[in-house]
Amino acid sequence: MDSSRIIVALDYPSAEEAVRFVDQVQPAECRLKVGVELFTAAGPSLVERLVKLGFDVFLDLKFHDIPNTVARACDAAARLGVWMLNVHTLGGAHMLTAAREAVGSSGNRPKLVGVTLLTSYSQPDVEQVGLHGSLAETVASLARLAHDAGLDGVVCSPWETADLRRRFGEKFILVTPGVRPADADSDDQARTLTPREALGRGAHYLVIGRPITRAPDPQVALDTMNREIDIG
Ligand code: C5P
Repeated sequence: MDSSRIIVALDYPSAEEAVRFVDQVQPAECRLKVGVELFTAAGPSLVERLVKLGFDVFLDLKFHDIPNTVARACDAAARLGVWMLNVHTLGGAHMLTAAREAVGSSGNRPKLVGVTLLTSYSQPDVEQVGLHGSLAETVASLARLAHDAGLDGVVCSPWETADLRRRFGEKFILVTPGVRPADADSDDQARTLTPREALGRGAHYLVIGRPITRAPDPQVALDTMNREIDIG
C-alpha cells in the first residue's frame, strides 16, 4: 500500500484552517477529502494546491443532478487532478452512466464512487423520505446500480461492507465514513464501527473527520489510528 487507507475529512471552514492541518502531515500518512463545506469556502484552487503537494484528494461533492450536468461536473473535477470523486446513487442509472463516461478511461482517471445512503441515516430516516425496504436492502440495491453502471465502488456505512463485499467482490471499492475509535464520540454518525472492525469487514478506505481534525493534537490522533490499523 503506497499510502494510508485513512482519508482525512478536511471539514474546515476555510483554506487557512485546512492548510494548518495539512502542513502537519505527509501524503504517505493519509489521503485527504474535500467536501462541500471546504469546497464552497475555498474552491478549486485549494484542491489543486493539495494535489500539487502530492496528496491523493477525494473530492466529496456527491453530485446529484440531471445526467448532462453531472457529467460536466465530473469532467471538471477530473481536470483538477483528483484521485477520487463521487456522485449520489439516488441520481439513478442514467446519471451514473453519464458520470462514468465523463471520467474517461485513461489509466490515471479518477476513481468514481457512488454514495449509497448517508451514514447519518437510520431506519426511520429511510422511511421518512419514502424509501421502502430495510436500510440494508436499500443500500444493496443502490450499490447494484453503481456497480452495473461501471462505477469503481461506493461509499457506505462500515456495517454494510461485509454484505457488499460478498455481493460485488474484491475489486469493488468500499469507502466507509462513520468510523470511530472505540473511545470516541459518535457525533451525528448513526452507524459506526472502529477502524480495525471496518477494515476487517472489507472496507478499502476509511473516511475519518472529527476524531482527527478536532483532536487536541490531530497529528498524534492520525498517527495513533495508522498504528492501530497497522499501516502507514
Ligand atoms: O467527522 P466525521 O468522521 O463524521 O466525518 C465523516 C465525513 O464523511 C464527513 O465529511 C461526511 O460528509 C462524509 N460522509 C459521511 N457519510 C456518507 C458520505 C460522506 O459521513 N455516506
